[in-house]
Amino acid sequence: MKVISTRAAVNTQMLLLAKENKTIGFVATMGALHEGHMELIRISKKQNDITLCSIFVNPLQFNKLEDLKKYPQSLEQDIRFLEEEGCDFLFAPIAEEFYKNVIKEEYNFGILGKVMEAEYRPDHFEGVATVISELFKAVCPTRAYFGEKDYQQLAVINWLVHHEKSQVEIVACSTVRNDDGLALSSRNKRVSKEGIKIATKIFETMSFCKSNLDNLSPKDLTSKAIGELSNEFEVEYLEIVDERSFEKHEEWKENVPYRVFVAANLEGVRLIDNLSLNH
Ligand code: PAJ
Repeated sequence: MKVISTRAAVNTQMLLLAKENKTIGFVATMGALHEGHMELIRISKKQNDITLCSIFVNPLQFNKLEDLKKYPQSLEQDIRFLEEEGCDFLFAPIAEEFYKNVIKEEYNFGILGKVMEAEYRPDHFEGVATVISELFKAVCPTRAYFGEKDYQQLAVINWLVHHEKSQVEIVACSTVRNDDGLALSSRNKRVSKEGIKIATKIFETMSFCKSNLDNLSPKDLTSKAIGELSNEFEVEYLEIVDERSFEKHEEWKENVPYRVFVAANLEGVRLIDNLSLNH
C-alpha cells in the first residue's frame, strides 16, 4: 500500500490513474479502524479498480476541543489492517497542509442542519461537509463509501454532492454490529468492558421500537424508549423520524420509511446509532 501525505501528491497520483480509465473507490475515515471501516474497504475493492482510504482526524468537525484530543489514534495498526485487506492507497494528511488556501463555505443543509446531530453538535456538519468537499477535490473518486451508522452524515453528504453537482457516486453501506447488536465505533475503545455490555442496550431499545410500531404512537414509543435508556445513559436524543425528510410525525403514516436515531453518553463517551423501523 502506498502512503501519501500531501494533497498535491494524492491529486497527481489519482489523476494519473483516472487517465488510465481506472475507477477509484474512496473510503474517508478518522482512523482507529475497526470491522465497520474494513467492510467499506471490502465493498470498494469489489466495485473499483483502485481503493483509497483516508485517515484524517478533521479538527473542523469537533465542536469540543476535549473530544478532538481524546479521539483514539492508532496509525500503525490501521496501516497493518489496510494492508491485510489489500487497500491500494492511504492518504493521511496533516491539517495545516490540507487546509492551506481553503476558503470555508457556509452551507445551508435545511432541516438536516437543525435536528438531532446538528442540534447537539453545532457546526459539526459544516466541518464534515468542508472536509469531504476538499477530499473529493483532492482524490477525484469514482465512488465514495459511507456507513449508515452515521445516517444523518450520509444524508448531509448526499445533499453536498447534489449541491456541488459532483459526479461522485455515493454508496451507502449497512451498519456493522457485534454479536450483541452494538454498532462498531472507534469511540467504543474508550468504554470499559462492563460498559460495552451496557451499551448493547441501545440496540435493544431500538429493536423494542421496531417491535412496537403497532402498539404505540410515535410520541409514546419515543418517551418509553427514552425512559428505558435513561437508567444507564445520559440520553441526548432519541427520535423517530421519516428517514427521507427527517421530520417527526404525531401519528404513523402509511408508506413512510421510519427510522429511530439515538445519541447517548455512557462513561463520558458519546455513542450514536440508528435503525430502520419498518422496511
Ligand atoms: P469515522 O467515524 O472514522 O467513519 C468513517 C466511515 O466509516 C463513515 O462513513 C462511517 O459511517 C463508517 N462507519 C463507522 N462505523 C461503522 C459501522 N459500525 N458500520 C458501518 N460503517 C461504519 O465518519 C467519519 O469518520 C467522519 O465524519 C468522516 C466522514 C471521515 C469525515 O471526517
